[in-house]
Amino acid sequence: MSRSAHPAGPRHADVLPEGHYSAPADDLNVLDPKVWARTVGRDADGVVTVGGIPVTQLAEEYGTPAYLLDEADFRERARAWRTAFGDDADVFYAGKAFLSRAVVRWLDEEGLNLDVCSGGELATALSAGMPAERIAFHGNNKSPEEIERAVRAGVGRIVLDSFQEIVRVAHIAQSLGGRQRVQIRITVGVEAHTHEFIATAHEDQKFGIPLAGGQAAEAVRRALQLDGLEVIGIHSHIGSQIFDMSGFEVAAHRVVGLLKDIRDEHGVELPEVDLGGGLGIAYTSDDDPREPHEIAKALTEIVTRECEAARLATPRISVEPGRAIVGPTAFTLYEVGTVKPLDGLRTYVSVDGGMSDNIRTALYDAEYSVALASRTSDAEPMLVRVVGKHCESGDIVVKDAFLPGDLAPGDLIAVPATGAYCRSMASNYNHALRPPVVAVRDGAARVLVRRETEEDLLRLDVG
Ligand code: LLP
Repeated sequence: MSRSAHPAGPRHADVLPEGHYSAPADDLNVLDPKVWARTVGRDADGVVTVGGIPVTQLAEEYGTPAYLLDEADFRERARAWRTAFGDDADVFYAGKAFLSRAVVRWLDEEGLNLDVCSGGELATALSAGMPAERIAFHGNNKSPEEIERAVRAGVGRIVLDSFQEIVRVAHIAQSLGGRQRVQIRITVGVEAHTHEFIATAHEDQKFGIPLAGGQAAEAVRRALQLDGLEVIGIHSHIGSQIFDMSGFEVAAHRVVGLLKDIRDEHGVELPEVDLGGGLGIAYTSDDDPREPHEIAKALTEIVTRECEAARLATPRISVEPGRAIVGPTAFTLYEVGTVKPLDGLRTYVSVDGGMSDNIRTALYDAEYSVALASRTSDAEPMLVRVVGKHCESGDIVVKDAFLPGDLAPGDLIAVPATGAYCRSMASNYNHALRPPVVAVRDGAARVLVRRETEEDLLRLDVG
């Protein structure tokens, strides 16, 4: 069939307009396990299922758009990180990726700790019963009220991010009659190979205290003098969605270098090192993420080796994966509203959500995959752009992908790997109602976070 004869837009790789796509998969009905949650499959009718439930049934019950989360997969991934690092290390799940009370309970049950970075995340963690000593409190501008709440609750560590905060936390802890365990977050000067907005170890940005110019050493010097603080370690987080382990190696090398300088200057061996989160996941079949056991092995080896060379006792390592645990466990289910072929370009598929439930494509140029979920199809692949319903042309969910050429309004499509930073960064743009998060496990579904209602919106509008 020639391109012009195909009503729904171009389909052959040699005539495709500019974009980031690979050739269409041989069979668009096949779901690549790399990008889909572990219990996802298709039933005998070709309908996508998760946790044994067809998405058509979930759509009927909970509506669309909806984030559908595979609980068994979440637990397995959390457990894999815990097992990979073992009892001599700690895994802190980064709650900013997605946090709800059920998630907190799963983490607690699976033996993970929790990283929070705001009063709201702290409140969620505490209200779900996470023991405070297993919580780490982050942020580059924690308010005095947040610090006080964290100290009063007895959080296991506060990660200090500036000279002012060193004094602030020491003062608050002391005035409450205690000593707060803290880590000092440093920037090690590594250029992580990821989007600029989610790279955090180069020096020209807001997080951490630079190692360069002796600032990190000065921060430690000051913190060690303050009675309100117990300095337990150094923290480094180099960025997010990273595949290349070399950045972590350089970071570990520089963090251990600082530990050695601290030992030489103060005679103190700090007992902990936190290497942050940031491990990448597969959003498309082209991504090849590392497994937790490979990451654990690489990080442990490098810290051990560097410490041996510096004649330091190996500190207790901690890590803070967020995306790598929750990201692959959920997908977003949308209903197709319109299908608009643009001759010689591509076909625009409008769904009932958009940048309000997934801002990552617009913000980071993130790539996603998509599949027809309510049925299978043998129609020819067509090049599509999946867009939302918001008043903005940058409202794109999936920039370039292939879907069957017979796609029609009323079909359900699913975008995988939306478990991290989609619901947590969702907005009410255009007064959209944020979708629910529905957990599915062993044939049973339950709402973790319900869909917003117009009453929710109007309740805030008190004018
Ligand atoms: N630890 C710290 C101190 C962090 O700042 C972060 C993420 C993490 C751990 C977890 O990183 P993960 O393992 O999830 O990559 N909104 C962006 C990501 C921002 C990440 C912020 N910090 C996105 O949607 O890609």
